Formats: sequence, C-alpha cells, structure tokens
Amino acid sequence: MDMQIELEKRVLEIEEILKQYLPREEGFQKTVLEAMNYSILAGGKRIRPMLMQETYRLFGGTSEIVEPFMAAIEMIHTYSLVHDDLPAMDNDEYRRGKKTTHAVYGEAMGILAGDALLNYAYETAAKAFSMEPGNEAVGRAFFVLAKKAGIYGMVGGQVVDVESEGDASISKEKLDFIYRLKTGALIESAMLTGAILAGAKEDEQKMVEAIAGEVGLAFQIQDDILDETSSLEVLGKPIGSDKKNQKATYVAWEGIDAARAEVERLSAAAIEKLHSLSGKNAFLDELLRYLIHREK
Ligand code: IPE
Ligand code: IPE
Ligand code: MG
Ligand code: MG
Ligand code: MG
Repeated sequence: MDMQIELEKRVLEIEEILKQYLPREEGFQKTVLEAMNYSILAGGKRIRPMLMQETYRLFGGTSEIVEPFMAAIEMIHTYSLVHDDLPAMDNDEYRRGKKTTHAVYGEAMGILAGDALLNYAYETAAKAFSMEPGNEAVGRAFFVLAKKAGIYGMVGGQVVDVESEGDASISKEKLDFIYRLKTGALIESAMLTGAILAGAKEDEQKMVEAIAGEVGLAFQIQDDILDETSSLEVLGKPIGSDKKNQKATYVAWEGIDAARAEVERLSAAAIEKLHSLSGKNAFLDELLRYLIHREK
C-alpha cells in the first residue's frame, strides 16, 4: 500500500465532505463566517474524520450517515485549535502553515469564530437525525460527540493544561489526565462515533475507545516531540511553543528518548487491540503505524 497516495485520496474525499457543510460567507455576520472557513480550509491532516470513517468501515458501515459527523468532528477540532492559539492560551501566530485566525481577524473574531465552529458542529451533526429517522445510533453518537468535547473531554484537559503551566513537579497521573482529555478525548470521539454509527456491539465499542485512548496519548506525545525537533516550515505551527509557555509535557517530564519509546509502546498496544477485533481494515492498521513516525 502506498500510504502517501492512500492518505491524499482520503484527505481529498474528507475535504469534499467538509466543503458541503461549510457556511456561505454572506450576511451582516460575514466576517465570522470567513474566519470559520479560513481556519477550516487552512489545511490540516484531517486525522479525526479519517479515523471516524475508517472505524465506520471497519465495522461494515456503508451509508452517508457518518458524513455530517465527520464534518462536525473536524469543526470541533478546528475550534479547539483556534482557541488554543489565542493570546490568553498558547499565544501562537501560525497554524496549518498560515497566520492563526486571531492574528488575521483579531482576537474578538478569533473567540467568536471558535464559538461559531463549535455550535455549527452540532448543527451539522444534527442533520443526521433527519437523514435516517429511527436510527437510534445517531442519538448515541451525538451524545458521545458532545461529551468528549466538553468538561469531561477536551475542554477539561485544556483547563488542567493551562493551570499546570510552570508546574515542574506535576504528577504522572495529572499529566496523563491532561493528555487523555485535551487530545485523547477527540480521538476517542472520532473512533467511537464511527463504531456506534456502524452498529458495533457494546464490547466492540469499549475496545475501540481503549484503542483510541492509546492512539490519542501517543498522538499528543509525538506532538510534543515535534514541538522540540521540527520546524515551522514542516510543522506549519511554531516550534518551541511548549517551552515558551512552560508546559508540563511528557518530553519535559521524562526526556525525549523515553517519550519516543512511549509513542512506540502505546501505538503497538493500540495495534494489537485493533487486531483482536473481528473486522479488518488494512488502511487503519497502516494509519496507526504511520502516526508513530509522522513529521507533522
Ligand atoms: C493538533 O492536532 C493539536 C493536537 C491535539 C496535538 P493535529 O496535529 O491533528 O492538527 P491538524 O488538524 O493536522 O492541523
Ligand atoms: C492542544 O495541545 C490540544 C488541543 C485541545 C487544541 P497543543 O497546545 O500542544 O496543540 P498545538 O501544538 O498547539 O497544536
Ligand atoms: Mg495548548
Ligand atoms: Mg498549542
Ligand atoms: Mg503542541
């Protein structure tokens, strides 16, 4: 399998779906609509909608019901990035190879574009209810999407991330909490909604959530490694952001070599669990492997 070609094919497909759901830039509130579309269309790896779709396929899903959810998770993720970059948060000027949303549109519009993306994500996912009336999986997937983005998910993790800046003696337990929530939760959301929509059984859903938890943790540790070892040109966002903000990270906590080993260990554990499921998806398998050594 040529991973680069397979990835590009899927990113194009995902972006076509996203574009169908993006708002038109018109009306007195046009500025915020432009800012939303600017942040979403700036690029990005589209890992979350990709993981959702591939998990959906793994469990034999074939309908279009997953599409509004794919668009929604990318909107939620993009909102989390727009707010993460704000001066009051990580205060970063570049994202996805472009100026951050607040740097282009101003801070107020950055805040509002994030709010708007989050709300529009639910407006978008809610379209699935009328696509397949009577499909109970839609309501269950909607609940997961909402919960994993909120105080028991991404927002909860960001809170502790910000509060732990400068805390050199942070416990491993708290560090794990930050990672599992700020990043793991949206990866869990992606894979679990894909599984639910495809009709995966209860025990299969539990396994998918566990796989996604490990993938998410590995994903964030790799992000921290790249924050030290990559470049603005390759990464599309500034390096050294974590040091600048005195972030509590795995790299700071255990050093870069141990962090690298942790990415490998977690990913191998996730792949092993994936193999224990009855369905097969060779691309998903490769994708988890690819993420270990990703350079952006
Ligand atoms: C960045 O996520 C934020 C983290 C959770 C590490 P991605 O690395 O998926 O960012 P994009 O979507 O590709 O820009
Ligand atoms: C952010 O983690 C995770 C989010 C919920 C946005 P980081 O702050 O490390 O993400 P980047 O490096 O800015 O993408
Ligand atoms: Mg951050
Ligand atoms: Mg950041
Ligand atoms: Mg980072």
